[in-house]
Amino acid sequence: MEEFIKENLIKAKSFHPYFEKALNEMLIAGGKRFRPELLLSVVKAYNPLLLDNAKYAAFALELIHTYSLIHDDLPAMDNASLRRGHPTLHITYDETTAILVGDALNTYAFEVLSKAPMHSDIKIELIKTLSENAGPNGMVLGQAIDCYFENKKLNLDELKFLHLNKTGKLIAASLKMGAIIVNKTDLADKLYNFGLKLGLLFQIQDDLLDLLDEKETGKSSGVDENKNTFVTLIGEKEAEKKADKLASEIEKEMENFDENLKTELKKLLNKYLYRHKNLKEEK
Ligand code: IPE
Ligand code: IPE
Ligand code: MG
Ligand code: MG
Ligand code: MG
Repeated sequence: MEEFIKENLIKAKSFHPYFEKALNEMLIAGGKRFRPELLLSVVKAYNPLLLDNAKYAAFALELIHTYSLIHDDLPAMDNASLRRGHPTLHITYDETTAILVGDALNTYAFEVLSKAPMHSDIKIELIKTLSENAGPNGMVLGQAIDCYFENKKLNLDELKFLHLNKTGKLIAASLKMGAIIVNKTDLADKLYNFGLKLGLLFQIQDDLLDLLDEKETGKSSGVDENKNTFVTLIGEKEAEKKADKLASEIEKEMENFDENLKTELKKLLNKYLYRHKNLKEEK
């Protein structure tokens, strides 16, 4: 995936002194590429011949995710100065640049997807899934609730709704998009529901990361104090317990998957299911 991203960095030649550089900076900075890898795991399991073409869709996911991080860090949202081990774009450049780079990555995701070497019917389904889960009833809704309810306490059902939207749905969409590419329509919904649970776990673990030093996480920490998170609402210990419970449920659910899918997902999720236990080794 890394190679594909490097070969497909965004071109925007103009006389602007740094816009093109800023566009690619957070993509190059890296990150775990969790969402692309989820999509690719499903493709590997069912039709590895489609892997190269599937990378367009995996890249589209990473573009949407990276845009969400750039906007998430803005002063109007989480006001964070470090991301993926680098200063955030509004620190290096200015807020205008960070807003516009986010906008550009968001739009570019759909340009990439529309140009993918795949059948048009498949591409429409991918565009539908990505937009439904990233937009006003997915990630953006989650972010709106996250920010509006800063300093206002939510109950646990509301917190779960927030986490499923801001994080769970894009992770669920990643798996579903893999199923769409390999034409396994029956599997798409099953993987989507599995992905929601995985996404909830991923965000609870992320809530725990906020307690660590930013040298360990590569992003600003201690920024969740006034936010609704599993740590702020139920405390570190209970959040860890909740993560344990979800991780073991997810492990059990994986046993019902086809052999190849089980193998591919286990390979990837091995690093993630219990990362709340060894977060300190994370970067
Ligand atoms: C961070 O996502 C924001 C969340 C939705 C939890 P990641 O932890 O996947 O961030 P990167 O891509 O590795 O930087
Ligand atoms: C962000 O949640 C979710 C997004 C949609 C970007 P956080 O605000 O907890 O993510 P981090 O901790 O800044 O990566
Ligand atoms: Mg946030
Ligand atoms: Mg944040
Ligand atoms: Mg966080």
